[in-house]
Amino acid sequence: MAANKKLLVLPGDGIGTEVMAETRRVIDWMDKRRHVSFSIDEGLIGGAAIDGAGTSLPERTLELAHAADAVLMGAVGGPKWEKLPFAQQPERGLLGIRKNLGLFANLRPAVVFDALVSASTLKEDVVKGLDIMILRELTGDIYFGEPRGIETLPDGRKRGVNTMTYTSDEVERIGRVAFDLARKRGKKVCSIDKANVLETTVMWRGVMESIKGEYPDVELSHMYADNAAMQLVRNPKQFDVIVTGNMFGDILSDCAAMLTGSLGMLPSASLGAPDASGRRPALYEPVHGSAPDIAGKGIANPLAMILSFAMMLRYSFDMGDDADMIEQAVQNLLNAGMRTGDIMEPGKAKVSTDTMGSALLKELDKLAA
Ligand code: IPM
Ligand code: MG
Repeated sequence: MAANKKLLVLPGDGIGTEVMAETRRVIDWMDKRRHVSFSIDEGLIGGAAIDGAGTSLPERTLELAHAADAVLMGAVGGPKWEKLPFAQQPERGLLGIRKNLGLFANLRPAVVFDALVSASTLKEDVVKGLDIMILRELTGDIYFGEPRGIETLPDGRKRGVNTMTYTSDEVERIGRVAFDLARKRGKKVCSIDKANVLETTVMWRGVMESIKGEYPDVELSHMYADNAAMQLVRNPKQFDVIVTGNMFGDILSDCAAMLTGSLGMLPSASLGAPDASGRRPALYEPVHGSAPDIAGKGIANPLAMILSFAMMLRYSFDMGDDADMIEQAVQNLLNAGMRTGDIMEPGKAKVSTDTMGSALLKELDKLAA
């Protein structure tokens, strides 16, 4: 039995709790059937934490997160908390845990499963076989830059301020993650900036250029963010690894996500820097949100959350074979025609969240036999 892994699960809000329940079954399966054992704490974040502990990111959650080997999160937010003051909204909890754990590297793969190629709004030949990795810097940029806020000017007008800022070391560390990822994939990095307008990104581009010599086996290109948005829908297969700042990454990763047809299929990993003992803070979450419109109905797609757990096995625990097995099981289900509502097509079998979860466990049984 391999060393025990300590997990913190944060189901969060809306469909977060439903897809987490299915993922817990997959975690249990791994625990029983594979060479690993998990001990699991459960914590509060987002709206659930506001209701249960008076704040979107309770101290207790941070304590548990720091003690864990990896965190698995559902989703946060919902109409119930929309009227709260900005600083108290559920999303602050998410941004807070990213910052507190130093999760600067956000990996958002956009992969088109063959069985789902027609779920994309783009033509089949544009997206078939697509496999790109968006690497978004997650703890800097205009998301966290100071000064920020809304002030009232002497003449009564209001002025809103946010600050786009990066330091060269921040660019260098995300740049290195991009080159390392590309080395294990298609050996191409495209760095996305707005160096024709924004000095912050002139600096960004310069840093990327200054480290590329250390990765002679990887090709580096640069692209302006507006062009990148266009290229992502025109010819997405030109990309391998895309690296970009927090805000462009937020926007472009949603764009890339839709190339695949459904947000309900997309996992993500957010990683920090390894400490002296090699331990690396990590949080895994589906790209989709809490989807309040379908919450509580048992119809949400649990696959993005389950695939996020697979990413955890791969990136935090070096269990690539087990991650492959989960990904293979997902593909088999899709090939067999199983669909939740978000990826439903004529002629396929529409199933509920827990039916999809049960089918996945059966598939894992078969693959492990
Ligand atoms: C994301 C989300 C978040 C972000 C929101 C919910 C704060 O859009 O993870 O992409 O902007 O980072
Ligand atoms: Mg986003």
